[in-house]
Amino acid sequence: MSLLITGGTGYIGSHTVVELLEQGDDVVIVDNLVNSSTKSLDRVEQITGKKSVFIEADICDKGAMRRVFNDHNISSVIHFAGLKAVGESTQIPLHYYHNNVSGTVALLEVMTEFNVKNIVFSSSATVYGENNVSPLVETMPTSATNPYGQSKLMVEHVLFDLAKSDPEWSIISLRYFNPIGAHKSGLIGENPNGIPNNLLPFVSQVAVGRLKELQVFGDDYDTVDGTGVRDYIHVVDLAKAHLKAVIALDKLPGCTAINIGTGNGTSVLQIVNKFKEISGADIPYKISPRRPGDIATVFAQANIAYDVLGWQAERGLDDMIADTWRWQSENPNGFD
Ligand code: NAD
Ligand code: WQD
Repeated sequence: MSLLITGGTGYIGSHTVVELLEQGDDVVIVDNLVNSSTKSLDRVEQITGKKSVFIEADICDKGAMRRVFNDHNISSVIHFAGLKAVGESTQIPLHYYHNNVSGTVALLEVMTEFNVKNIVFSSSATVYGENNVSPLVETMPTSATNPYGQSKLMVEHVLFDLAKSDPEWSIISLRYFNPIGAHKSGLIGENPNGIPNNLLPFVSQVAVGRLKELQVFGDDYDTVDGTGVRDYIHVVDLAKAHLKAVIALDKLPGCTAINIGTGNGTSVLQIVNKFKEISGADIPYKISPRRPGDIATVFAQANIAYDVLGWQAERGLDDMIADTWRWQSENPNGFD
């Protein structure tokens, strides 16, 4: 039996494939390479000494997905495939809804046809919206402020309804907080196209000299130093949560949402200072106005992950930043 990993050549997917291969699982990857390249597969093979099956296909293409299920004996799916740029989602919302929502519905329909009813879904802390106070707990009301967040929330509704309709489904929706870091080998890491939107890739590209200066979006929040606080989680810890989730599917019918975070908050300036300390690089920054849609503080309550999956984060901020820096400094232009 194999695990199907959609979006498996991307940032979080490639790190998860490493952990799965090292655990001895057979892995089939489907990715349309819209935000990744097959170079990550070569690196994954270099790290693990093992091969996965790669199929270039779009999850929206039901014919192609049927062939995948026909040709491989799939036991469970880890579904990473999706578009994730918040700003872009406000400009091309239909594309986001089509890719993330319709694409997931198409995948679920094909899974139903082949009687594969186990899935782990990549959700996001963004589904908590802007009205809840951290620590964020899975039972809090959800909402979304942009089409990307809305697409994650819509898929969660689809998954809850599907599980209610048919008790054979086991579904875990992992709500990631802020994934950062890279594999300790320095061979795989985050490789954004163009100017990064997220803090860590931006800081590391400033540190390596690819970008001139970081803009710190607001220093007047009610936080430790006025800058935004987030729950950063090492991508390898996050990857390991998926391995635990796949095991848990067997004994957990229905649909369960689970936060994947550390439970700790770190401010933008704390990140910048830690990055300077670890890399020894200069990180020029200027304070800019708040970014629309941002809130002061976001961090998880991570008890359910521990109680239900037996998972907790093992890597701290030093590891997250040291590993980000190794990846960035050894691959200043990503995989190119
Ligand atoms: P990524 O862009 O590196 O990986 C996503 C992969 O999905 C890419 O390789 C892309 O080519 C592929 N893809 C997109 N649409 C596809 C389609 N229709 N068919 C086949 N492949 C498709 O992003 P990531 O950071 O690894 O994120 C993985 C998942 O986790 C996404 O669903 C994302 O929304 C979610 N997530 C990410 C974060 C984060 O900050 N990185 C936080 C919360 C949730
Ligand atoms: C972190 C902090 C910014 C960039 C986003 C998505 C969320 C999830 C994770 C997918 C904030 C500040 C940032 C910069 C800055 N993705 N910042 N200068 O906004 O918490 O979450 O990624 O699901 O849905 O919204 O992450 O890394 O963009 O920002 O000062 O150039 O860094 O204001 O306080 P965010 P981020």
